[in-house]
Amino acid sequence: MTAPPPTVVVDRREQAEAELAREIAALVRDRGRLVLGVATGDTPSGLYRELARMRREEGLDFGRVVAFGLDEYLGLAPDHPASFARQLRENVFEPLGIPESSRHVPGDAEGGDEYERRIRDAGGIDLQILGIGRNGHVAFNEPPTPRESRTREVRLHAWTREDAVPAFGSLAAVPERAVTMGIATILDARRIRVLAFGRRKSAIVARSLAGAIGPDVPATFLRDHPDLRVWLDRDAALELEPARRAGRS
Ligand code: GLP
Repeated sequence: MTAPPPTVVVDRREQAEAELAREIAALVRDRGRLVLGVATGDTPSGLYRELARMRREEGLDFGRVVAFGLDEYLGLAPDHPASFARQLRENVFEPLGIPESSRHVPGDAEGGDEYERRIRDAGGIDLQILGIGRNGHVAFNEPPTPRESRTREVRLHAWTREDAVPAFGSLAAVPERAVTMGIATILDARRIRVLAFGRRKSAIVARSLAGAIGPDVPATFLRDHPDLRVWLDRDAALELEPARRAGRS
């Protein structure tokens, strides 16, 4: 059985955001050049605000950081308010000052192989920031997704489309297809850092971190990674200990 990954439970999400921001800042200061994998969604938003604060107030320089977006809806204009390209531009690329030539989003690439090639050419992802979807997806790797999956087009799960309604205004407006890095692409990153906050993530956090590893909960594959760290707030961690105990009995 795989050992449980290092999991940190914090009282307030800001503590997790500050800890991960400090780790990223230390890497940026030590190495200058860092290849970051960046997730969208609500989960990492406070982390990006903290990194932007470090840039403003502490002079942290992201000028040699290369960033790769995880996923994107298909069929949206890049400027569509709900597009991940726009979210990344507004919440990550601009506030951190990542140079234009170092910004990569999957919607811009000529297919999955080309995106994989760009990641390899950049030297691979040093640190991948991730959230978890309610159905156990990471990026848009919906259940079931095999461990060997690479960047490709996918069909979105009903829950994922429901969760996107606030961003699009109606279910009919939510795209049915997307492009996403695969599980194998994500597992190639040197460090994987996962955040999950709030009660609505508690069941899937428990399944992801304590359930059987396999394609039905794609996030479980992250536990195969040698340098994984997970931060949860108390609400997100609520069902984890009982699940771990049940797994042991
Ligand atoms: C979205 C994205 C994922 C994200 C996840 C959780 O659909 N494709 O990259 O991590 O679902 O989103 P949130 O952080 O808003 O809960």
